[in-house]
Amino acid sequence: MPVARKTIDLRSDTVTIPTPPMLRAMMRAEVGDDVYGEDPSVNRLQELVAEMLGKEAALFVASGTMGNLVCIKVHTEPGDELILDSESHCYQHEGGGYAAVAGVSVRLLQTERGIIQPEQIAQAVRPPDAHFARSRLVVIENTHNSGGGSVYPVQTVRRIGEICRRLGLALHMDGARLFNACVAAGAQPAEYARHADSVTICLSKGLGCPVGSVVAGTQEFIARARRVRKMLGGGMRQAGYLTAAGIYALEHNIERLAEDHENARLLADGIREIKGLRLRYDPPETNMVYLDVLPPKSPSAFREALNAKGILIGGERRNPFRAVAHIGVTRRDIQRTVSALRSAVR
Ligand SMILES: Cc1ncc(COP(=O)(O)O)c(C=O)c1O
Repeated sequence: MPVARKTIDLRSDTVTIPTPPMLRAMMRAEVGDDVYGEDPSVNRLQELVAEMLGKEAALFVASGTMGNLVCIKVHTEPGDELILDSESHCYQHEGGGYAAVAGVSVRLLQTERGIIQPEQIAQAVRPPDAHFARSRLVVIENTHNSGGGSVYPVQTVRRIGEICRRLGLALHMDGARLFNACVAAGAQPAEYARHADSVTICLSKGLGCPVGSVVAGTQEFIARARRVRKMLGGGMRQAGYLTAAGIYALEHNIERLAEDHENARLLADGIREIKGLRLRYDPPETNMVYLDVLPPKSPSAFREALNAKGILIGGERRNPFRAVAHIGVTRRDIQRTVSALRSAVR
C-alpha cells in the first residue's frame, strides 16, 4: 500500500497551527470581557508586548492589517500623505484601507529590498504649502516581506527616526515579523521599536499563533487606537483564549525562529544548485526564499508539478515564487522539498 506523504506547506508562515502546549495554554486561559477591559489574559499580553517593545502601552488586534490600519488612522487626518516603500504590505496587500478608511494618499519610494534609506524621506517630504497634501507618516516594514524577508539595520531605523522627528513626521513600523528581524540582527525588539512612534507585531506568523497581532505606542496613542479598533469592529470579548496563545508564543517561540532562518538557508543552498531555478534574493536573510523559474519551464507547469509532489509554495502562474520556513516545517521537509524542486523544473 502506498504510504501517505505529508503535504509540506511553504506558502507562508501564516499556515501554522497551534502546537499541543500552545493549545493547552489557550484552554487554561483566564478570560473576561475585553471590551470592558476585564480580560486578564488580554491585559497580560498587552503588558508583555509593551514591555518587550519598550512602549507605554499596547493593544491586541485581530490581524496585522487591522494593526497597521488602526495606527495609520490614529496618526493621520484625511488628506494627509504617507511615505512608504512601493512594495510594502501596507500599500500592496491591505485592501487600500489607508485610502478607504483613513482617507490618506501615498508617496511611494523605490527601494532596494524594501529598505528605505533615511535620505529618501528628506527628499519625499512635501513643503508646508496649501497646494500639497500634508506629509504626515512614514511606514517601514521590518522584516520586509516582498523584499525577501529583508532586515533593517538598527542604525538605519535610528536614522529614519531622527529624520522623522526633525521633519515633524510620525514613524510607524509594520513589524509583522519584527522578531525574525531581531533574531537575524541579534537585536532586542526595543532597540528597533524605540525609534518608532507605533509598532505592529504579528503573533499569527512565525510565532505560530492561530490569530492576532498587537500594536504598541504611548498611553495616549493606544487610547485612541482602542477607539479606532472599536470603530472597525475589532472590539473582542473573551479574546483571552487567543492572547494566551500569544503569551505562550512570546515566551517559547522567539528563539526558535533561528531554526526557520537556518532552514531557509538550507533551501536556498539546494536551489542554487538546481539548473532552471534562480534565487531572487541570495542569500535569504530570514525565513523567506524567493525564486524564479527560468525558461523553457513555464511557471505554471512548475507549480503544478511541485503540487503533485505534495509541496505547496506561494505564487501563482508567474515569477517569483515564495517558500517560507516556519514552525511546521522540519529540516527533512526542506530536503524533500529540494529534491521535489529538482524534478519539478525538469
Ligand atoms: C509585512 C506584513 N505586514 C502585515 C501583514 C498583515 O497581516 P495579516 O495577514 O494578519 O492581516 C502581513 C501578512 O502577511 C505582512 O507580511
